[in-house]
Amino acid sequence: MIGPLSKADLVPAGRAGSERAALAPADALTVRRILKVNHAGEYGAIRIYRAQIAVAKRTCVEVVPQLEHMLEHEIEHCRVFREAMPARSARPCRVMSLWSLGGSVLGFVTAVMGRQTIWTCTAAVEAAVHRHLDDQLHFLRDKDRELYAAILAIREEELSHLRTAESHLRGTTLGGSALRGAISSVTDALIWLSTWGDSSRMAKELKTGAPT
Ligand SMILES: [Fe+2]
Ligand SMILES: [Fe+2]
Repeated sequence: MIGPLSKADLVPAGRAGSERAALAPADALTVRRILKVNHAGEYGAIRIYRAQIAVAKRTCVEVVPQLEHMLEHEIEHCRVFREAMPARSARPCRVMSLWSLGGSVLGFVTAVMGRQTIWTCTAAVEAAVHRHLDDQLHFLRDKDRELYAAILAIREEELSHLRTAESHLRGTTLGGSALRGAISSVTDALIWLSTWGDSSRMAKELKTGAPT
């Protein structure tokens, strides 16, 4: 049911960053954690969309073209983060299989529950991702211009995914709100765990406007 990994998911590249200043060790570590969690998150997103597409082809085929369009974006995002790793001495998350399994299960379950649940899931994940990308952009602006530019472009596409999902959601039900809250919390927790809490530090910096 879930398709095999595409080459674009996994192809490494060693493009060196030309606009990066030397970073303090703590900042370099945060950059590596940002890359690790973003790459893993895109990997999970690919699995969510693939599972949803597989189910939707049988249950609500009209949503498939939009899901496939978003899947193409996630594959490209995954490639961008993977290619940015070698020049920053970053490595993929060691528990990619968990992100893969979690994404596939979430995609499958939400798709089986129906069209509205597919869009609720997309809205919850994309809103959480968008929030964290904002925090990362604030952190990276003066530290890694190349990665900053890449995330800025990716954030635009994540925002378009969020808007697409919200345009399909009809009203707010208690169950829908609860599901959205739960998926959002799980996404936040996964991001926090994968960055060893750096996501909280970046969010705090963004609020206070100063490094912590
Ligand atoms: Fe993405
Ligand atoms: Fe997305």
